[in-house]
Amino acid sequence: MGTCGIAAGAGEVLSAFRAEVGKNGLGDMGLCTSGCAGMCSKEPMVTVETKGGPAVLYGDVTPEKALRILKDHLQGGTPVREYALGIGAERDEIPFFRKQKAIVLRNRGIIDPDRIDEYIARDGYAALEKALGTMTPDEVIEEIKKSGLRGRGGAGFPTGKKWEICRAEEKAPKYLIGNCDEGDPGAYMDRSIFESDPHAVIEGMTIAAYAVGASHGYFYIRTEYPLAIRSAQAALSQAREHGLLGANILGSSFGFDIEIREGSGAFVCGEESSLIHSIEGESPEPKQRPPFPAQAGIWGCPTVINNVESLATVPAILREGAEWFSRIGTPTSKGTKIFSLVGAINNTGLIEVPMGITLREIVFEIGGGIQGNRKFKALQTGGPSGGCLPESMLDLPVDYESLAKSGSMMGSGGMIVIDEDTCMVDVAKFFVQFTNDESCGKCVSCRDGSDALLEVLTRIANGEGREGDLEFLDELCLAVKNASMCGLGATLPNPVLSTMKYFREEYEAHIRDRKCPALVCRNLIRYFIQPEKCNGCRLCAKNCPVDAISGDTKTVHVIDHAKCTRCGVCLEVCPPKVSAVMKVTGPPGPEGT
Ligand SMILES: Cc1cc2nc3c(=O)[nH]c(=O)nc-3n(C[C@H](O)[C@H](O)[C@H](O)COP(=O)(O)O)c2cc1C
Ligand code: SF4
Ligand code: SF4
Ligand code: SF4
Ligand code: FES
Repeated sequence: MGTCGIAAGAGEVLSAFRAEVGKNGLGDMGLCTSGCAGMCSKEPMVTVETKGGPAVLYGDVTPEKALRILKDHLQGGTPVREYALGIGAERDEIPFFRKQKAIVLRNRGIIDPDRIDEYIARDGYAALEKALGTMTPDEVIEEIKKSGLRGRGGAGFPTGKKWEICRAEEKAPKYLIGNCDEGDPGAYMDRSIFESDPHAVIEGMTIAAYAVGASHGYFYIRTEYPLAIRSAQAALSQAREHGLLGANILGSSFGFDIEIREGSGAFVCGEESSLIHSIEGESPEPKQRPPFPAQAGIWGCPTVINNVESLATVPAILREGAEWFSRIGTPTSKGTKIFSLVGAINNTGLIEVPMGITLREIVFEIGGGIQGNRKFKALQTGGPSGGCLPESMLDLPVDYESLAKSGSMMGSGGMIVIDEDTCMVDVAKFFVQFTNDESCGKCVSCRDGSDALLEVLTRIANGEGREGDLEFLDELCLAVKNASMCGLGATLPNPVLSTMKYFREEYEAHIRDRKCPALVCRNLIRYFIQPEKCNGCRLCAKNCPVDAISGDTKTVHVIDHAKCTRCGVCLEVCPPKVSAVMKVTGPPGPEGT
């Protein structure tokens, strides 16, 4: 069970199955858990497989539903259609799964991540066996280069090339690092890989170590991921017991082992040079490059640092061949990419899609469109350093170059869907506040530049914007981008630049008209009671926390704008049939609107 399933109640569902099975005995039934299946919005999910019958995938399972599934389906032989997301082949036609292509996540929802034999039964460690038994390190590097695999941690650097640079270094020992810091808000791809298929990362990392000649590796996992850490720990122990880590792996002369280092949650710790400092016990500040980590990393030794998803892709490439992998995707972006699809979308979850798929297919087919039939407004990709793309860009294919050209970026895979009720000035402010909090403070441009960006954005959101603010923001963004040392500072202006590019009229409305068109920025909105609708029920007056509403029973109520804190409670409590309270923006109009 993954974090998300557990949060949705998977533990209680499992207990319900266990308790019932305990009463009646298992018979020839088996009960097991698996990692995350990716469809967060339908968790907890249960798959029932019966001899001769089609496998059935159930979603939104509760302990009560579990008992019915047990009785009707497992004991009675009839699937419970009303709880089923898909029966037999229908499962592949579920819109959420139909356009996905599971390579890294191929074992999701299928194997128990705590059982190495289940991973091995699905060709696990076959790629490592092939590498150690039949390929030289140079051949492994050549195969990864031919596959076109690029780093999934954000920058998209060719993985085989990085390994080649490290291999060419003479200094020893060499190190490998699997980066699972994952500090972007809304992202959980790497956590989920560790929670549902940890051996894929171990196998990929061991192959990488063989290729570059490394003897020791680290999984750098943020401490806020206790389940991923536990899963990785258990998998490492099992791999050692099976001779897949340690000295003489699979009887070869190659030895390698991995230890876990827990990061303590700063976003900048995911940046490679900062992460290396963190492992060394130093303050996690980025450093100037070159030399790159592949030349001089941990304690000055050649170090390959790869994202967890990059590493977990490697076994599939060696198993199926570089040519197979490079046929998937676009000319410059090969294979698949995992995204965590979150925000105002119907089907939230973890998706693995072929590169080249359009953003529209992701949002409207896989994601099932916007919640509550509201209108799509923007898609935020690339984490806090990414950009916000409008509806007109939705036919963009997912690849490194197209996303960068549009003013956003692939990043490590966060994808946040934004609907019409969101203010884009507020979004830009949110992300700059995040990077401002997370800046290590070493560069003036990043530290003070993000302070200045935040100050201007806050002024605009408060209705105190001035002529010339947008031009100033443009200039400041450019300065921060160019003068900052690491990727955090170099990309932190992206949310501002992309929202100013695609949603300029919204900034102008804040500055020129003192309006927030999305009705979000507190200083620019007011609540107003429509006299023709109000029936004087007093609900709003009773619930207003600051006594800003006056009026007797059965008379029209009025809001005192000088007292009102714009908390929105009156709008919430006014009975929907009456709907007398309105939220408005702009300077006060007639009758106190
Ligand atoms: C501020 C910042 C945070 C980063 N966080 C991560 C992260 O959480 N995980 C990750 O794999 N890469 C992260 N990166 C990118 C790493 O520096 C590095 O490029 C990556 O781990 C290399 O692996 P790859 O080549 O497999 O992508 C971050 C970069 C920056 C600038
Ligand atoms: S750009 Fe920002 S986070 Fe990066 S080194 Fe400079 S101050 Fe630190
Ligand atoms: S928005 Fe809040 S403070 Fe203002 S009138 Fe309504 S309930 Fe009172
Ligand atoms: S809750 Fe609505 S109907 Fe009742 S007094 Fe307030 S504004 Fe009028
Ligand atoms: S279902 Fe696994 S992360 Fe949501």
